[in-house]
Amino acid sequence: MADVGTLLKNRLPLAAALLFPLCAIAATSSSVDDELSAVLNRAGFTGTVGSSIERRLGRPVDPRLANLRRLLWFDTSGGLHNDNSCGGCHSPANGFGDSQSIAIGVQNNNRVGPNRSGPRNQRRAPMAANTAFYPKVMWNGRFSAPSGDPFDNSQGYLFTAPEGSSAFPPFDPFVSHLLVAQAHIPPTELVEVAGFTGTAGTIGPEFDQFDDGLGETVPLPDASGFRNEPIRQAVLARLNSTPAYLALFGEIFPEVAAGAPIDFTMFGRAIAEFEFTLIFADAPIDRFARGDREAMTVQQKEGALVFFGQGRCSSCHAVAGRSNEMFSDFEMHVIGVPQIAPAFGAGSGNMIFDGPGRDEDFGLEQVTGNPAGRYKFRTSPIRNAALQPAFFHNGAFTRLEDAVWHHLDVYESAKNYDPVRAGVDRDLTRHLGPIEPVLDRIDPILATPIDLNAREFNALVAFVRDGLLDHRADKQSLCGLVPATVPSGFQTMRFEECPQRTRAATPRP
Ligand code: HEC
Ligand code: HEC
Repeated sequence: MADVGTLLKNRLPLAAALLFPLCAIAATSSSVDDELSAVLNRAGFTGTVGSSIERRLGRPVDPRLANLRRLLWFDTSGGLHNDNSCGGCHSPANGFGDSQSIAIGVQNNNRVGPNRSGPRNQRRAPMAANTAFYPKVMWNGRFSAPSGDPFDNSQGYLFTAPEGSSAFPPFDPFVSHLLVAQAHIPPTELVEVAGFTGTAGTIGPEFDQFDDGLGETVPLPDASGFRNEPIRQAVLARLNSTPAYLALFGEIFPEVAAGAPIDFTMFGRAIAEFEFTLIFADAPIDRFARGDREAMTVQQKEGALVFFGQGRCSSCHAVAGRSNEMFSDFEMHVIGVPQIAPAFGAGSGNMIFDGPGRDEDFGLEQVTGNPAGRYKFRTSPIRNAALQPAFFHNGAFTRLEDAVWHHLDVYESAKNYDPVRAGVDRDLTRHLGPIEPVLDRIDPILATPIDLNAREFNALVAFVRDGLLDHRADKQSLCGLVPATVPSGFQTMRFEECPQRTRAATPRP
């Protein structure tokens, strides 16, 4: 009879050696799960914000606006020179964000994608997806809901001059959401859609003023001081002279059917309604938080733990309260982003940048006039960041890894920044604004380097790239929204990264 003792002696270590790693993995992965669940609980993250839109609006998203809102997004007739629309900068191939490091608005080559060309503005267009949940919009937060809740206009909405806080008064039932108010703005932005009258040649020689086409010379864009209302009226005149739009608006607004003109509030409501459908907040992290432990890979989970832990990311990319689980505190911080700037007037840029060399972006200071706000930008809500072709307010980095790494040692990253290595387009590689004054103001949270080993870093990147991505925002889904034709009859822009066939397949109005 075999000696049981010998058997055990011989086999047990082997069995143990075989079994132990499996147990260890099982134990680790379930302890990672438990730990992450606890962390998310503590952070106030539920993974349910995406499904809350209609409850927060207090009504269903309006299906009658379904087609209209989409058509307006892509119709260049909203621009005084018929050469740009929301879709030109907020592309369906990029989660309705920019295809560029710095947006190209008017005088473009009618393409949207890597080969878009034309004079640049000052910043990258953020993704319009999920903006319904932002209490503060724009890189410098210049439009906001003082209540902290974009769905609550009980305190009105705060805008910069000339709109100020009076243009969208509290309780105006037609301006029921921050985005309804905000949609009044882009058509008046000269460099976005309105255009300078005729050509860039009308910009004054000192680059400080230009002819607004309304018989007057006015200071350059910086919306303050610019008369927005006449531009809005001109855009409305176009909509009101397009029978297809009168019919479409008439289906929704009885007053238009009865002969009243389309007004800007209707335009704003339609645009905002489209944005209410662009909610893509069901990522692996959300499904995990709702109890599906298989929704994330082990690497993403480890990355999430770094994000909420030693990486310090969630101290700014917050999820609780008014963050609406958008991974932003919606506060302004200096994080030392290299100042890339196109050369103004040399065919590259059409905005005057800040600073003595006109190669800086003062961020929040532009809004408050207070130098304490210099170089401060809103913490980016980073859901679906994987869809962006470039990162930060000026797209200074084109690889997500580099953008994440920048936070870990801001000084090292900023001082060694090379635009060519960072992969930005050639016209943006020629000149950098000063970095020292920016680094002098770094946010205390990032003033000391964050020490991560390679495994932790890779996990963090995997979490930000894949753990926060809702695949409904992929170009495969969103390109289907590009209409084959638009009511004005104008040519639609060419979306380089959208397969042609999905365009033709779009149902007609
Ligand atoms: C020329 C390109 C351009 C066009 C055209 C354009 N935008 Fe934008 N959009 C931008 C840029 C750039 C920003 C950020 C500007 C800033 O912060 O200074 C922005 C910001 C936004 C934001 C705020 C997003 C956030 O994260 O805060 C929304 C919403 C938005 N645009 C909607 C629209 C709509 C609706 C239209 C059409 C009516 C439109 N945009 C047309 C470039 C454009
Ligand atoms: C001190 C606050 C702060 C901390 C801490 C912080 N961030 Fe950021 N983050 C920001 C701000 C502000 C921006 C936008 C800066 C800009 O564009 O000028 C940003 C931008 C980003 C972007 C680019 C998004 C876009 O819109 O292009 C990513 C990705 C990102 N952060 C990830 C992280 C990760 C990962 C961590 C942790 C290692 C982290 N952040 C820590 C404030 C912070």
